[in-house]
Amino acid sequence: MNMYDLIRKKRDGGILSKEEIRYIVMGYTGGAIPDYQMASFLMAVYFQGMNPQETVDLTLAMADSGDRLDLSDIKGIKVDKHSTGGVGDKTSLILGPMLAALGIPVAKMSGRGLGHTGGTIDKLESIEGFSTDLTREQFVQNVNRIGLAIAGQTSNLAPADKKIYALRDVTATVDNPSLIAASIMSKKLASDADVIVLDVKTGSGAFMQTIEEAEQLAETMVSIGRMAGKKTYAVITDMNEPLGEMVGNALEVQEAVDILRNRGDIRLREVAITLASYMVMGAGRASGPEEARKLLEGTLADGSALDKFAEFVAAQGGNPRWIYEPEHFPQAKLVEPVYPEKNGYLSACRNREVGMVSLILGGGRETKESRIDPTVGIRLCRHLGDAVQVDEPFAYLYANDDQKAAEAKKRLLAAYDISAAPVECQPVIRKVIL
Ligand code: URA
Repeated sequence: MNMYDLIRKKRDGGILSKEEIRYIVMGYTGGAIPDYQMASFLMAVYFQGMNPQETVDLTLAMADSGDRLDLSDIKGIKVDKHSTGGVGDKTSLILGPMLAALGIPVAKMSGRGLGHTGGTIDKLESIEGFSTDLTREQFVQNVNRIGLAIAGQTSNLAPADKKIYALRDVTATVDNPSLIAASIMSKKLASDADVIVLDVKTGSGAFMQTIEEAEQLAETMVSIGRMAGKKTYAVITDMNEPLGEMVGNALEVQEAVDILRNRGDIRLREVAITLASYMVMGAGRASGPEEARKLLEGTLADGSALDKFAEFVAAQGGNPRWIYEPEHFPQAKLVEPVYPEKNGYLSACRNREVGMVSLILGGGRETKESRIDPTVGIRLCRHLGDAVQVDEPFAYLYANDDQKAAEAKKRLLAAYDISAAPVECQPVIRKVIL
């Protein structure tokens, strides 16, 4: 077998065998196959696609490329969720504490963000003292004791994905459904949850821009999860605008706390509760989504989810007072209002651009080495479909630099369209794949 022949086979529309796919994944991860051959193979996959069997074989080869976590010493049915990524997505910070408050263990491996916004770990690290650097023993102990732990992904969990994703990121080969499905599901299969709930984003801020593409990706991932013996569900959610009001690291933690206090943005609350309700069902604690929803809403109403979040923060070295008194979070120096340029209705949002605004302000990473500024970001006071007026800000920018704030303001205004007539908007939950 050699890589040249396999690239040519895929380039010409051939179907690769399980052995051929393993040869490529193991060869690239181990360094025997160079970047230029792998990049060319990924581009061939991008244009020719992979059939369902090839996608499963790619996922399993990637999951087997490193260690597989063994979480069998965690009591109970372990649940996990993964989002395909979007702007302002802080649902993990909300659903983890809700589930833990119901006694459902959440053992979550998370990543840092590269690109327009920070990842879950970057957000949590805006809390004084918080660390995701847990040993395996601490991770298991915390889940058994309080029901929730979030650790940084170890470098040997699906290392093939780490290497392949870095190459896809710079060769315009990220947005292919088979490659995304294999990337996400290889990490999920290697991290040993019993129930996997996938949040597949669709719209202008997502990899999958149309609902049809999102459905195809969701169905592919659900069938891979089930083939591997995991209870797997997917919820397709709207990403045509940021989720919630806040974009930025400390700002997003504060918004999650607001939801845990049983108030806050309705669309964000809806996505968190819907995703969590399939995790509750998967754990066998409710027979349908309505029953699960009632249980989850109870944890917001009685404060048990908020207390659980504070307990989790303390267990990972953070200061739990910040959760009850969010005024302790460090603040940006400048808070700049952004006024719309005309009266009308917010009719479209180029959501990736909103993510770029956060990056310009310092809330994301341009390179792996960049340091994130936890205080900066955006507060959006209006959603798509809302009326706006020139004398009322539709957003505020949180910045520490005048020049960056000025550029961010221009880009944020250019990211939105305003129409004279009202527009109809998508519901935030588009479809559930059971
Ligand atoms: N998230 C991932 O983990 N991988 C992808 O390929 C896309 C989104």
